[in-house]
Amino acid sequence: MKKKKIWLSTILVVALVISIIGHSNSLKAVSSLGKDTLTMITSPDYPPYEFYDTKGGDRQIVGFDIDIAKTLAQKLGFKLQIMESDFNGLIPALQANRADFVMAGMTPTPERQKNIDFSIIYYEAKDTIVAPKGSNLKQPQDLLGKKVGVQLGTIQEQNAQKIAKKFAGIQLKQLNRVPEVVQEIKSGRIDAAIIEDTVAKGFAQANPDLEFNTIPSEEASGSAIAFPKGSSLVEPFNKVLQQMKNDGTLNKLVAKWFSQNTAEPALSTPAKGGLNLDFTRILPDIPFILRGIPLTLLFTLLSVSLGLIWGTILSLLKIIGIKPLTWVANAYTSVFRGTPLLLQLALVYYATPQLTGYDISALQAGVLTFTLNSGAYMSETIRGGIQAVDKGQSEAAMSMGVPYWLMMWDVILPQALKNILPALVNETIGLLKDSALVSTIGVVEILRSAQIVGANKYIYFEPLLFAGLIYYVLVMGMTLGASALERRLRESE
Ligand code: ARG
Repeated sequence: MKKKKIWLSTILVVALVISIIGHSNSLKAVSSLGKDTLTMITSPDYPPYEFYDTKGGDRQIVGFDIDIAKTLAQKLGFKLQIMESDFNGLIPALQANRADFVMAGMTPTPERQKNIDFSIIYYEAKDTIVAPKGSNLKQPQDLLGKKVGVQLGTIQEQNAQKIAKKFAGIQLKQLNRVPEVVQEIKSGRIDAAIIEDTVAKGFAQANPDLEFNTIPSEEASGSAIAFPKGSSLVEPFNKVLQQMKNDGTLNKLVAKWFSQNTAEPALSTPAKGGLNLDFTRILPDIPFILRGIPLTLLFTLLSVSLGLIWGTILSLLKIIGIKPLTWVANAYTSVFRGTPLLLQLALVYYATPQLTGYDISALQAGVLTFTLNSGAYMSETIRGGIQAVDKGQSEAAMSMGVPYWLMMWDVILPQALKNILPALVNETIGLLKDSALVSTIGVVEILRSAQIVGANKYIYFEPLLFAGLIYYVLVMGMTLGASALERRLRESE
């Protein structure tokens, strides 16, 4: 009976958590007007437009764009919800109707306008060349023979490509986030980067060993709000934006964000062979990283429980002796074991909206993928566990007239589960560590939190090492808990 309780409570926990996730997602899934919350998506790597303020553990995205978005939403009577992605994922997010609008210092271009709509321009910017002090790189032709960094998917990337076409010998390096670009200059892996003036200015102020020069021929390019094609929000947004321009609200925000320095200083590269480690620099950000733990645990718990249920079903299909079912279950297992988990994750996350129209949240996509994947692995373990249970037992049960399913449920499965407990613990540990993969689709769990801190401060070793420590402690705790459980099960035998 005890085992039944375990099963029952597992199912209860799963149901509860699914409903929680489902609820939080229903806030996000709204995509047409006639709702009270607008969802904005941004790429928070762009101080002072949008960046993470990690001090004191706050998981807050702040900045010029965020203040404008808040004002707009408030004036139009909406609540605002903010999601994040790397810059190159913003337009796809709009196309998949994952968000109502983008504010990310995004410049309207004819190519982009083919796929999305833009508001009027709310701020102007020019490109600059950022480089180590004294490099004196002032115009495109100065970049000849240099390695130049740009953010992937931006007009800076396009511009750099144009320059590279014109002047041979320029080597481009595309990176996902702007702080990474800056860090690459500082560590000498690239010679220069093309970055917008206001952003470059902040980084140069925070890093006195960098300089920036505005590219002279450049005409100004502006930032505008982006919407899914045909969005009915464009007009009301334009109206309020124009009002904000006229009544000085916008200028006030410009003064607020563009006069202070919001970029964090980067660590200078240590002398060759020197060690440059300083954990005190991440002290204020430790609560921020720690807040990734509940999400990681929730994720693991859910995937393991659901995976166990799914794995059990699959294993039964494999041994029940009905050929087509066995065949399907085997094929399923071989596909899920035969392809990379990371690929499955990306497929589920990006393809679900396209195929089904359902806007699956990153967390849901993660749980679904990990359940499908670990179900495949667990089905094999459970199958082995079932087959290892003494044949005599099932024969005895059958001869007493106990129906097959009842016998499975009451006699065989509980014993099989007990036998495979160590293997299940292994699977759980594996899932806990693999949960770091969901950082790639924007879930801010432990690893992603550490990367955000690293990107803000240009230090990678300390936050990553700290994240490693957290994972290790979690796995250790789990291992200890599991061996205690196993001991108790043995004693109760
Ligand atoms: N204005 C440029 C563009 O539209 C760069 C914007 C980058 N924004 C960001 N949040 N990283 O391509």
